[in-house]
This record gives sequence, C-alpha cells and structure tokens, in this order.
Amino acid sequence: MKEEKFEFQYKVYNDINELDKNDSWLLTEARKVTSDAYAPYSNFQVGAVAMLSNGEIVAGTNQENASYPVGICAERVLLGSVATVYPKIPIESIAISYNSDSMKSDHPISPCGMCRQALLEYETRFKKPIRLLLSGQEGKVYIIQTASLLLPFGFTKKELGEK
Ligand code: THU
Repeated sequence: MKEEKFEFQYKVYNDINELDKNDSWLLTEARKVTSDAYAPYSNFQVGAVAMLSNGEIVAGTNQENASYPVGICAERVLLGSVATVYPKIPIESIAISYNSDSMKSDHPISPCGMCRQALLEYETRFKKPIRLLLSGQEGKVYIIQTASLLLPFGFTKKELGEK
C-alpha cells in the first residue's frame, strides 16, 4: 500500500486591482452580468463570462425554475451558449462572480460539482485548459490555471473507452 496525495496551486489576489488589464475587464463583466440572472427562489445571482480564443466574449447567468431542480447554474448556461454560438472556438478563461440578498459578496465562490464535470468535458473536448477567475463583487480573486484541477479523479470519455 502506498498513500498518494492530490494537491494543486492557485493564485490569490487581494483584489481586482492586482489583475492584468484583460482579467480585470473580464471579472468586471462577470460582476455586472449577475444582475441579469433569473434567481427569484435563491436570490443568489451568479454571472459567468467567457473569453474565447478568438477574443469574443459570451456571458451566462443562473436560470431558476419554480420546479427547483430544473434550474441551471450560470456556468452550464454559459458553456451551452458558447458551444452553440461558437462551436469550434475554445474558451481561454471564465470569470465567475455573484450577488446575494442574504450575504455580502466579498469572497470567491467556485463552481458546483455538476458544473465542474461540465467544465472538464469542455476542456477534454477542446484539449485546452480553461482558466477560472473566481471572485465576489469585491475582495479576493482566485485564479485557477485549469478547471479540471477542481475535479480530481474526474470521469472522462477515456473511461468509456473513447479517445
Ligand atoms: N449557482 C450557480 O449558478 N453556479 C454555481 O457555481 C453555484 C450555484 C446557482 C444555482 C442556483 O440558482 C443558485 O446559484 C443557488 O444555488
């Protein structure tokens, strides 16, 4: 028996002012787009904005439903939109932010388990890492070099015998 360890590094910035111009712009867009979320049940509005490798920008927000499980997270709304509007163009980076009626938006959130799986599929499909920028409306910003780091032992098409 041997014990193995999983660890990963990510960058922590004190606030948006420490980011370079492109990242700062992308995060600002994610912060703004939270106001377009449809989240009347949780009152937790999430915004995700992707920068594609051709320089185009696509946004997604969470879309809730009176039948709660039908609701979709901002990240998966975003991936579906990118894959539809720019089916051949890989994503470089995604900035994710949020607003909440019940708490201060002053620390990063990270994608839920289902979205991590969807992000992993997107990276696998395009054979390209997706950088994640995570932050609230203010405060610290985390930058994660590739979304798959958030899903150790992730399940991919390789497990299905596909290349
Ligand atoms: N939500 C997202 O959109 N992204 C996440 O990463 C976490 C949660 C949404 C789902 C639901 O509409 C609301 O936030 C509260 O869970």
